[in-house]
Formats: sequence, C-alpha cells, structure tokens
Amino acid sequence: MENVEYDLVITNGICVTAADIASYDIAIKDEKIVLLAPSGSLAQAAARKIIDAEGGYVTPGGVDCHVHLEEPPLFGKGYSSDTYETGTRSAIAGGCTTIVGFAPQPKTEPSLLKALKDTHARASGNSFCDYGFHMLVGNPSEQALEELSTISGDEGVTSLKIYMTYTALQIRDDQILSVLLKARENRILTMIHCENGDVLNWMTDQLEAKNLFDPKYHSHSRPPILEAEATNRAIALSSLISHTPILIVHVSDPGATLRIRKAQTNGQPIFAETCPQYLFLTRDDLAAPGFEGAKCVCSPPPRDKESQEAIWTGLRNGTFTVLSSDHCPFNYDDAERGKKTCITPEYPVGRFKQIPNGIPGVETRLPLVFSAGRLALTKFVEVMSTNPAKLYGLYPKKGSLIPGVSDADIVIWYPEGKKPNITLTNEMLHHANDYTPFEGRKIGNWPRYTLLRGKVVWDRDNGGVVGEKSYGQFLKRGASTLDRIWETVEEQGPFDVASF
Ligand code: URP
Ligand code: ZN
Ligand code: ZN
Repeated sequence: MENVEYDLVITNGICVTAADIASYDIAIKDEKIVLLAPSGSLAQAAARKIIDAEGGYVTPGGVDCHVHLEEPPLFGKGYSSDTYETGTRSAIAGGCTTIVGFAPQPKTEPSLLKALKDTHARASGNSFCDYGFHMLVGNPSEQALEELSTISGDEGVTSLKIYMTYTALQIRDDQILSVLLKARENRILTMIHCENGDVLNWMTDQLEAKNLFDPKYHSHSRPPILEAEATNRAIALSSLISHTPILIVHVSDPGATLRIRKAQTNGQPIFAETCPQYLFLTRDDLAAPGFEGAKCVCSPPPRDKESQEAIWTGLRNGTFTVLSSDHCPFNYDDAERGKKTCITPEYPVGRFKQIPNGIPGVETRLPLVFSAGRLALTKFVEVMSTNPAKLYGLYPKKGSLIPGVSDADIVIWYPEGKKPNITLTNEMLHHANDYTPFEGRKIGNWPRYTLLRGKVVWDRDNGGVVGEKSYGQFLKRGASTLDRIWETVEEQGPFDVASF
C-alpha cells in the first residue's frame, strides 16, 4: 500500500483512561499511539489496517504487576504450572499486555544477580506480552543488599518483594529493616507479604493436633488478625526507616485495610494492592466437598462477604492503588510436578498445610472486574493499568493512551448488542492449569482484541491468540513516579539512627 500514514487505526471507540471517557479515533505508527482524533475522522485514513470498535470501549492494555511464573516450590509443595510461555499467552487473551513477574532468590542463594540471570533465561524469547521482574528476596545477605544498586540501576529492576511468612522465604524484622534501608537508598519499592508466619505455623500445629486437615482449615490457620498485625508491623517498620515507601500486597482483610488507610491519612507512603480473589471468593469456597476447596487455597485466604464489600470500598476510595491477579497457579491434580490434592504415600490423607498456596487469575482479572460493573470505568483503568504503570516505573510508556508517548497497548471490548454471554470454564482459558477457581461465573464482556505495541495479539473472533511468544520484550523500569513518592521521601534526608 502506498502513502500509508499509519500502521493501524482504531475508529468508532469510546476511549477510557484513568482521567476521561470520550469517543475518539486512535492512530498507531511504529508501535506507538501517535494521534487521537475526533470520532470517525480516521475511518478513511491511509492505514495498513483499520479496526472498527463499533462503539465498544477502548482501554489501555492491562498492567498486572503480581504474576508468578516458573517458580520453584516456595509456597508449599509443588511447582507452579505456568511457564513464561503459557502464563503470558493467558495474559494477552485476557487483555493484559504487561506483566511484572518475580525473580526468586531462594534462601540457599546469596546472590540476587544470579537469581535475576536465571529468571531472564526462563523468560527471554518465551513471552507473548511485555514483562519486567521484581526481585523476590529470600536471603537478604550482605552480598544481596550490596547488589541492589546494580539491580535497580543497570538491571532496571526497581521493586522487590519480601515475606513475613512461608518457611522457605520468611525473613525476620531486623532483616526487613536492612532491606528497607537499602531499598530507600536505591529508590526501590518494597512489596511486603503481610501475615505473621510464626503465629500461623503455631495455629496450624494446633489444628493438626485435633486432626483437622481439610482445605477449609487453611482459613482457620490464618485469621484476619494475623494479616492486620503484620500489616501494622510493616507500616511501623517503614516509618522507622524514615518513611520508606512500601506496598502491602494482596490485602484481604478490612482490619488491615483500615490500618493502611490510617497510615495514608497520616501522610505515610504506604501503598496497597488487592486481588480478584478477595472480591469474588469467600472462605466458604475452601469448604467445597472432597478436597476441592484446595482449588481456592491462597494466602491470605479469601474472607467473607462483608470483607469483600470493604475491599470494593477500598478500591473506590483510593486505599488500594492497584488491583493485581497474584497469578500463581498449581494444578489440582498433577502427579509429577506436585498438586493441590497433595496426597502422597507419606500423607495418604491430604493436609491443608501441604497445599501449595496460590491460584490462577492473570487471564480473568480484567474480564471479571470489568463485568462486575462495580467500579467507575476510569477507576477500573486507574487500578488495572495506569497506577500499576506509575507505581512500578513504567508510565507513561505503559498504562495510558498518550499520543507520541504511550506504547499502543490497547484493549477493545465488545459493544452493546455484541457482548458475549460467557459462563466461564477452564477450557476457555489459555493457562496451563487444570482448573480456574472462577469456574461457572457469568461474565458479561471480554477483550475482543488485545493490541501490544500496535500489533493485534488477541482476536477473540478470528484465531484467538494471534501473537507470538517471541514478541514480548523485557522492560527495564525506572523508579516509581506515583505521587512524587521518592522526591517526598528524599526531602526528609537520609535515615539517621541517632535522630530517635
Ligand atoms: O497464595 C499466594 N498468594 N500465593 C502466591 C505467593 C504469594 O505469596 O504471593
Ligand atoms: Zn505474597
Ligand atoms: Zn504473589
């Protein structure tokens, strides 16, 4: 085609950003959004391809910054089921164009750089979507802490996760302080899994002593107060290190939410994440007949209906900055790689403490929340795309629709009159897991097209996944740009222990 001005044009869409909802056309060239124009004005543009959105919503591609792929057994027995290939394939089919996965450093490994190199080897050339990494710090050795400047600089990995639970990963409070101090020096955002591991292990022993092994006791072993206590402690530790920014991940409990809200009201740089499992599942799902409740075992566990409401409220009022999937799938029944049923010759009766923690969700995150219709569409985009991009140093390349600046990462939804009437089944999904905890849910809309850097990678009606696993690129990230957090923190000067 001669005189082609654009690679692709989307016409007749209702475009939604975190700020606005308006009808306009979008022109794309060289992987970027280059022009927003009055609706219909580009319908005849000189473009290689024109997509008529037919009045459907057009949103930025999903940015899911909590995704576990190809990790060794760290959350109980068993290997997680998704590789970079299958997990990112699942992501684009659900409208997610960027993920941030984890580079896990086991306790036995003193080096973070080694863990990072190994993770690159697994992901490189195997990703359908763009991706970055968080360091998962299991061993804050002197070497690891020193490596953080290279990790956040040259390596472009500007966030890390630490755990207050899980035997394979839990670190002590003094170690948390050392990590926070180094993170502060290097403008690294620290994500914290807040549950009191020592107490929940004690609770587990108490339950087992009474022969209470069923999946539902996973919830009894981790009552909400253990999440609220650890959340409170994490906030206190952050304030001790001169208000180092932290993100409390996968919040499920209204008590923890209140503590976060209070700290935010006091001006502390405390950010919070929640996940669909805390909006759509409850502890009753862990009590499904047989051992089926294992399919919903994750940590923290799903709570009750009232808690779900508190979490929705926290999303609406801004307590939660981001809504991620915490995709961490384990097959229900996979004899070779470990399984949720966790029945072995050693343990002929399944025990909840053996169930690997985590559930799949990278593909269902956007459709479930979009279809629920409980968030304003601008808020939906804010917590699903824009805020994650800002929080993790990817904005404005990712997370918005800014001409000349943003990658053309776009989801086009079905318009009124063409909306699919979906009853979710695992067969529909593109992960490598043998179940979804959301089986049977009614879903009122689904990404019709997903575009990654201007290329259609998901076309639900014509071929499904049409992207390639070599197309996803590694994203070197900068420091968080959300709310000027690092400028505000650094205005206070360095941590000084003698100031207390
Ligand atoms: O149960 C969960 N959340 N599994 C994934 C690992 C984690 O702690 O995020
Ligand atoms: Zn966690
Ligand atoms: Zn996780």
